[in-house]
Amino acid sequence: MRIVGPIIAVCALAGIAWLGTGPLSLYTLFGVIIPYCAFAAFVVGFIIRILNWGRSAVPFRIPTTAGQEKSLPWIKQNKLDNPSSKAGVVGRMALEVLFFRSLFRNASTEKTEDGIAIGSAKWLWLFALIFHWSMLIIVLRHFRLFLDPIPAWITALEGLDGMFQIGLPVIYLTDLGIVAGITFLFIRRVVVPRIRYISQTIDYFPLVLLFGIALAGIIMRYFTKVDMSAVKELTLGLVRFTPQATVTEPIFYIHIFLVCCLLVYFPWSKLMHAGGIFLSPTRNMANNSRAVRHVNPWNYEVKKHTYEEYENENWEKMQALGLPLDYEHVKEEEPPAEAEAGAAEGAPEAANTEDSEG
Ligand code: HEM
Repeated sequence: MRIVGPIIAVCALAGIAWLGTGPLSLYTLFGVIIPYCAFAAFVVGFIIRILNWGRSAVPFRIPTTAGQEKSLPWIKQNKLDNPSSKAGVVGRMALEVLFFRSLFRNASTEKTEDGIAIGSAKWLWLFALIFHWSMLIIVLRHFRLFLDPIPAWITALEGLDGMFQIGLPVIYLTDLGIVAGITFLFIRRVVVPRIRYISQTIDYFPLVLLFGIALAGIIMRYFTKVDMSAVKELTLGLVRFTPQATVTEPIFYIHIFLVCCLLVYFPWSKLMHAGGIFLSPTRNMANNSRAVRHVNPWNYEVKKHTYEEYENENWEKMQALGLPLDYEHVKEEEPPAEAEAGAAEGAPEAANTEDSEG
């Protein structure tokens, strides 16, 4: 059910969109109202998650240190794996976000006849990279639907994506990439026993949902055509707050309804790693603990009792025991008993005098 459940759920969502825009013709609901609500839910949810993470306390410096830290001048520092400056952190972060560097070093442990063998596991890295880059480029390409005139960089990106000019309409490499990437990530979870054991519904659902979105888009582009001028009128209308849902093909509404579900689901799911990675203290901190004193902001003022004070209080006993003393101590002369008594008697008088004068 962990695997079949998400497939049924995504089919049901597609079914709802088909029913709503096929037999029921609820174009404004599926083309305008739901997309606006979903986008608002996405933005608000995303901001809430980021603010919550931003507010959580990070009292300690906990960067992952996977190489030689900055030390004496003749010891070579590993600036990317153990960054001590902001530039190092930016470098490490950029390689992580753009090329999944830590995943590249992913290793797999296998039980062999001789014992345990640790080997490199690059497939996950490769397909994860193909999937994420394809998704990013597809989303960027989609901006052509929301912008008029279409900026040159989008046209250039489209040209690059379809550079092999296979088929008509030209097949985008990213369409092949996203399908290959999602398929690999899904099959890996199903086939590898250890991964299958730890995989939950929430691991399969986003993959199936993304696959559904990509599939509907691909069907739209390469198989059943949609009226692109009506689509552009709707998408531009959405941006300008004058939407007209004149598109009538249910496949288009299936595509955007699944996108809306993704938008609502995104902030509350594991997909938030897209935003969370930037707030990960093990990655976004410089390891400069030996150069800079980091004071825990939670530290409260502690009442101190110094050794000097301690010795001052006990030096006589320490001296009597023959313990070494660090400070010089002079025994205070006790005032003579008579003078004390006189002062005690005089005090109330003085006080009275003052009172009476006052
Ligand atoms: C997570 C967001 C989205 C993903 C992953 C996605 C994915 C795809 C994919 C893979 C295609 C196949 C062709 C291509 O690569 O261009 C496609 C086509 C299409 N998508 Fe999306 N899409 C998304 C959002 C949207 C949105 C928000 C709209 C409009 C409101 C939209 C409208 C379309 C249209 C009209 C096509 C057909 C394009 C053509 O025939 O050239 N998509 N989409």
